[in-house]
Amino acid sequence: MSNLDRDSFSSRFGVLVAVAGSAVGLGNLWRFPYLVGNNGGAAFIIIYLLFVIVLCLPIMVSEFVIGRRGRANSFGAIEKLAPRSGWLSIGVISVVASFTIMAFYSVVGGWTIYYIFKSFSNTLFVNDSQNLTLQFSAFIESPYLPTLSHLLFLALSSLIVVAGVKNGIEKYSKLLMPLLFLLVVIVAIRSLTLEGSAKGVEFLFRPDFSKVTGKTLLDALGQAFFSLSLGMGCMITYSSYVKKEENLFKISIMGAGADTIFALIAGLAIVPAVFAFGISPSEGPSLVFITLPQVFAQIPFGRVISILFFIILLIAAVTSAISLIEVVTAFLTEELNWSRKKAVATIFVALGFIGALSSLSMGALPSLTIFGKNLFDLFDFISSNILLPLGGALVVLFVGWRLNGAELYDELSNGATIKFDRRLFRVFLFVIKYVAPLAILIVLLANFLA
Ligand code: TRP
Repeated sequence: MSNLDRDSFSSRFGVLVAVAGSAVGLGNLWRFPYLVGNNGGAAFIIIYLLFVIVLCLPIMVSEFVIGRRGRANSFGAIEKLAPRSGWLSIGVISVVASFTIMAFYSVVGGWTIYYIFKSFSNTLFVNDSQNLTLQFSAFIESPYLPTLSHLLFLALSSLIVVAGVKNGIEKYSKLLMPLLFLLVVIVAIRSLTLEGSAKGVEFLFRPDFSKVTGKTLLDALGQAFFSLSLGMGCMITYSSYVKKEENLFKISIMGAGADTIFALIAGLAIVPAVFAFGISPSEGPSLVFITLPQVFAQIPFGRVISILFFIILLIAAVTSAISLIEVVTAFLTEELNWSRKKAVATIFVALGFIGALSSLSMGALPSLTIFGKNLFDLFDFISSNILLPLGGALVVLFVGWRLNGAELYDELSNGATIKFDRRLFRVFLFVIKYVAPLAILIVLLANFLA
């Protein structure tokens, strides 16, 4: 396929909602709140914010530079900028991580579909956390329904990707992202006005650093990568569809900003409610599926809001899943010259199978356990805590040491047509050359010592 035939985003708003659509997802609404709960609240949030600003923003900019400069999928872009080098491992990590992430992401996406339907029944609206916990575990540990829901989720996402970048990814992101934002704000307001929610707010904003361990750092870093869709070529792939006249630095700030604001609002929507109902905030991955129904059970029009909320959660998950699928789709269509249809169909079958195994490992097939973790947890751990930091480190090392400074400055200033402050550029260079790789290394090591 020649460069001229390449699909692209049609407008700046389109780029922004697609990037935000990829970033904002289950990571914000499902993963962030329970990690905050598991890691002692505010201290985790502060460390998380530091990682986002100091490390992840420069990494995002770096991915954008690679993608737009290389104008190809994550493998092809590196091949253009550094032919036949070891840096191509970035492309390999992209494809592998896309699979390991989707293996659990799609399962949770399926849960959201099931909970949309469940919102029509009365059994969900009980003010009894034990009952809701039982309902949830009975569901995810059963053999058929979760697997079917996962396949349905995967099919929805695949259909959007088949439609293309402009007519699929961009079109749906434009439609759904504003709606998503509005609804989470409504739920946050309701959560904050519940009696007893103040303790939750305190938990979110008063730090207790005595709880910080190596694991806290690793969780925060992994989550920052995960939430911003970094370290596996998603942003490389998306930026290869961004026009030459867009300001990459600005897009990074807006994308990372939107994602962070969204995570905080999601935290405010969920954690105070957890406290108001006297549930432990370290409930783990089931937090959203147990706590929120309890909130819905007690507010006017709770059923309507519940239906909407799980639809919105589904949409947030879909707009992220499509970015993960697009990474592999772009790879297959550009590197192997497959048609888009063939690429997506193949990915659907492969992911359908892996996701089903990961779903079944939650209970129906308990023997699917490695290193004491079921496959679902294992996929999550391998991708967020190992592959993404590793991929991120390679990306910054590549941009910092392999691309030359003039080339880099040229890409960030759009060939000197827009202003890019020289001092800012030097800071950026310093971070991606030294600070980011070192910090990632330390945190990765802390993982093995913790
Ligand atoms: N960022 C998304 C979320 O928060 C998930 C996601 C999409 C992702 N693309 C990614 C995570 C790439 C890591 C890498 O739900």
